[in-house]
Amino acid sequence: MPESCTSEFFTDEAVAIYGEQGFFLPLRMFAAEGVAELRAHLEAAEARQGSLTGKNRSAKYHLLMTWLDQLVRHAGILDAVEKLLGPDILCWGTALLIKEPGDGTHVSWHQDLNYWGLDPADVTTAWLALSPATKETGCMRMMAGSHLVHYAHRDTDDPSNLLSRGQTVADDLDEAAATYIELQPGEISLHHGNMAHASGPNSGSERRIGIAIRYLAAHVRPTDGPDSALLVRGQDRYRNFEAETSPAEDFDPAAMAEHDRVMALRQAVLMAGV
Ligand code: NI
Repeated sequence: MPESCTSEFFTDEAVAIYGEQGFFLPLRMFAAEGVAELRAHLEAAEARQGSLTGKNRSAKYHLLMTWLDQLVRHAGILDAVEKLLGPDILCWGTALLIKEPGDGTHVSWHQDLNYWGLDPADVTTAWLALSPATKETGCMRMMAGSHLVHYAHRDTDDPSNLLSRGQTVADDLDEAAATYIELQPGEISLHHGNMAHASGPNSGSERRIGIAIRYLAAHVRPTDGPDSALLVRGQDRYRNFEAETSPAEDFDPAAMAEHDRVMALRQAVLMAGV
């Protein structure tokens, strides 16, 4: 894990902004050397495993790769998340969100908690950019205040939509009011689990690489059957989720077995999402 972390203070004012709009950005977590180190880890894993992205977006890769296990426990990120969720924090998922230049992939408007099977909504995503996330490269866009609204969703059939079932907000949204979540490499945004968000295709010339980390307050409950999560800070007094185990080495047999076990649980609960 890079040592040159430069986590910024997530001020009370910033927390209040998050409460009002449902997201906050940017918070710088890594300097250029740290970004390069993380990107090297990710690209080495791609060289070994093939594509790490695609439709299975809730893949919990932090249970397979030690560098990602360390990232989900990163003190600067957790310090920010603690201000939103309190001192007892579970990591429920990671997603590697990679859009190759010109691949046409996009994400339709949706609210994650519409289909994640979690309650209450004390759920936040930290989204770390490892390459520029801009309007051109297909960064997320979000609808301020939408975390306080529940929209009806419908499934769509569009292979370029990265969501597993093409889940899409059925209501008309005022897209002109959306905020583009532009991040420089090493910066994170935070967004509420109920935030309406979407992203367009990458029309730039560089890969757009993001890592989304899903955090829950320990009192959150799975609503659709048994589920699992990894304690990353504080204590789990609730035991609402089966405890997960961190990998000792990348892709070692025990880690692969643990990943298979928890993904089977997850598949039974939902059909994956972003
Ligand atoms: Ni999403």
